[in-house]
Amino acid sequence: MEPSHKKKESETSLADISFNLAGFKMRNPVMLASGILGVTPDIIKRVADAGAGAMVMKSISVEPRQGYRNPTIVEVEGGGYVNAVGLSNPGLDVFAEEMRGLKEKPIPVVASLFGSTAEEFSHIVSTLESTPVDCYELNLSCPHVEKVGLEVGQDPVAVSKVVKAAKKAASRPVLVKISPNLTAPAEIAAAAESAGADAITAVNTVRAMVIDVETGQPILSHRIGGLSGSVIKPIAVRCVYDVSQRVKIPVIGCGGITTWKDAVEFLLAGASAVQVGSAVGYRGLGVFSEITDGIRSYMAQRGLKNIGEIIGRAHNSSD
Ligand SMILES: Cc1cc2nc3c(=O)[nH]c(=O)nc-3n(C[C@H](O)[C@H](O)[C@H](O)COP(=O)(O)O)c2cc1C
Repeated sequence: MEPSHKKKESETSLADISFNLAGFKMRNPVMLASGILGVTPDIIKRVADAGAGAMVMKSISVEPRQGYRNPTIVEVEGGGYVNAVGLSNPGLDVFAEEMRGLKEKPIPVVASLFGSTAEEFSHIVSTLESTPVDCYELNLSCPHVEKVGLEVGQDPVAVSKVVKAAKKAASRPVLVKISPNLTAPAEIAAAAESAGADAITAVNTVRAMVIDVETGQPILSHRIGGLSGSVIKPIAVRCVYDVSQRVKIPVIGCGGITTWKDAVEFLLAGASAVQVGSAVGYRGLGVFSEITDGIRSYMAQRGLKNIGEIIGRAHNSSD
């Protein structure tokens, strides 16, 4: 008889945890979320070596943005941050040039973009078509920058226009990242799906504020920011559950994922893949292999061969 640890290894190696989306293929479903790390070739390699399935870049806009002055981020109790970086980025031309110069791309890269009109989204996608990025993520959900992000992402008509424009310009899959600060995230996801989105990323940060009792003032220079990390996980899981019930396209879960258990919770809620953000800040890049190993062990212990057997199981009350 095979020793039990050997059996576990062979079962583990059989488990299929890949994620495929219209030509966008990931070896595993655990991605780095947008805005967490820089976008140099060296960082892409480090994220790949750490075991991530793909990497989402920091959001970019047509023109460079300086972002807000410090302080832009504050840690909160219970595992999390409130940030208002202000979507600082070097602008489309610089980013496109950097992407064109990529010599090595060990994992798929997802370009994240934001703007205030459908034309801007279309222009960014058209420009990035001449770069080796594998996929686009439309950031329609930044909670603390006026006229872009959430101001676009809370209106189903605007969402539809933006997604249609991006899809028209794109030869690669288009993900739409939605906000948890919506009364009905599923409605926005449905509008994105009808307009042609290939998948929904749920969610971005939760609007939040931290006040310093000594100064009596909000800590962040922008006063209001977005809450991320473990503290938002139950909100994000609920959004994924609602959205995955409403749309047929895949949902990518994001918000507070730190451990493999968190990732499995999102899969059970209906996510086909996950993104990890803040946990990279407080736990380092080791989170990627911890999460993928954990998902594989969880599947091996249950004799599951395909990750699809977990996805959305929490919807089935007779399980
Ligand atoms: C410092 C910081 C910067 C971020 N920048 C972006 C960004 O540029 N674009 C975006 O779509 N999301 C951005 N996010 C949101 C994350 O991608 C993610 O949706 C959110 O933090 C929830 O996931 P988490 O709890 O795993 O961090 C940022 C988050 C943080 C903490």
